[in-house]
Amino acid sequence: MRLSVKRSVVLLLTVFGTYTLTRTLYEVLTCPGVVPRTHVVSIGVRNLNQTLYRYNKNTPMVFVGGVPRSGTTLMRAMLDAHPDIRCGEETRVIPRMLSLRQGWGRQTGERWALEEEGVSQEMLDAATRAFLLEIIARHGDPAPLLCNKDPFTLKSALYLSYIFPNSKFLLMLRDGRASVHSMISRRVTIGGFNLSSYRDCLTKWSNAVEVMFSQCMAVGRSRCMTVRYEDLVLQPRATMQRVLNFLKSPWHEGVLHHEEAIGQPGGVSLSRSERSTDQVIKPVNLEALTRWVGHIPADVQQDMENIAPMLSRLGYNPKANPPDYGPPDPEVINNTERVLRGDFKTPTRLKRLVQGSPKMVSKEGRN
Ligand SMILES: *[C@@H]1O[C@H](CO)[C@@H](O)[C@H](O)[C@H]1NC(C)=O
Ligand SMILES: *[C@@H]1O[C@H](CO)[C@@H](O)[C@H](O)[C@H]1NC(C)=O
Ligand SMILES: *[C@@H]1O[C@H](CO)[C@@H](O)[C@H](O)[C@H]1NC(C)=O
Repeated sequence: MRLSVKRSVVLLLTVFGTYTLTRTLYEVLTCPGVVPRTHVVSIGVRNLNQTLYRYNKNTPMVFVGGVPRSGTTLMRAMLDAHPDIRCGEETRVIPRMLSLRQGWGRQTGERWALEEEGVSQEMLDAATRAFLLEIIARHGDPAPLLCNKDPFTLKSALYLSYIFPNSKFLLMLRDGRASVHSMISRRVTIGGFNLSSYRDCLTKWSNAVEVMFSQCMAVGRSRCMTVRYEDLVLQPRATMQRVLNFLKSPWHEGVLHHEEAIGQPGGVSLSRSERSTDQVIKPVNLEALTRWVGHIPADVQQDMENIAPMLSRLGYNPKANPPDYGPPDPEVINNTERVLRGDFKTPTRLKRLVQGSPKMVSKEGRN
């Protein structure tokens, strides 16, 4: 009996000792004396009905991206048609900010000079976060779920997932031959892509999508989802059901009729300077699916596997012109017939001010 009391006392003392030691170690390691230098920035925005929405770094958010001409605008327009989600136009400053921030973090003289001057990486993260939050929250109407679409942001998915811990990512994937044909035929200037050369553009496409794909994999399936453009236009219902499930947003039929929400309050806001505006005013249709076929130079086609190794990694047969993308839903066939009949014309107010002006020269395209 006595022995067991003694044992209990020893045990208690051991437990208490271990606890104290652990706590002391923890306190030493986390330096409680240092006041945290970052503070949580919170942004409040009111909608037309004066309802106040508050956003901070822990607010759930969606980043939509991919190589330009991969359906990023269509995806964001469909999400914008959902009453709970707002993406809005491209901001163009966000990818530039991210590329600056990346430069300040590289293991170079710049980084050490900054640290020397008292500018820590932690402060740069807080400043980047505040900048992004301000732009994303205020460049459109507030909504329960904010979304951002600037194609190249997906190159920084891992960093974004770190500064916004509850963010999610939608990476748009598309047959690179179609993306490249679209940028070349529509003269969409993208930094680093030589629009006079299919070979060069396909190489750059493969490199860019490789970076984005590996970032998406690194972020993980629970927070980054890949969506094939072909699936989105062939089976929009099933694809958007998957997307909304992933975002934990309820189903809304309006996402399948984004063209009806254009210019509506809380709907799809379009910019006349974005290159895809004349396409997303139309319902989801098959016009752009195989338009590239017959436009790729023979020598490039021959060498496709080496020029664009990401094609086969993403499941696009580099030898098939075109590959079988799958069967279309009946409603998509109907839409396509209406589009081919010419039922959808760009409203005058959305026509570009300066037709064909080179826009959106994004340095972020360079590798
Ligand atoms: C604002 O309130 C009106 C009337 O209550 C409602 O119909 C409308 O959907 C609301 N708009 C928004 C953006 O919440
Ligand atoms: C772009 O590609 C064309 C055709 O291959 C080539 O003649 C031209 O020099 C290239 N331009 C640049 C800036 O590399
Ligand atoms: C095609 O879609 C239009 C508009 O949604 C609808 O009015 C029409 O009935 C549809 N036609 C067919 C053949 O499904």
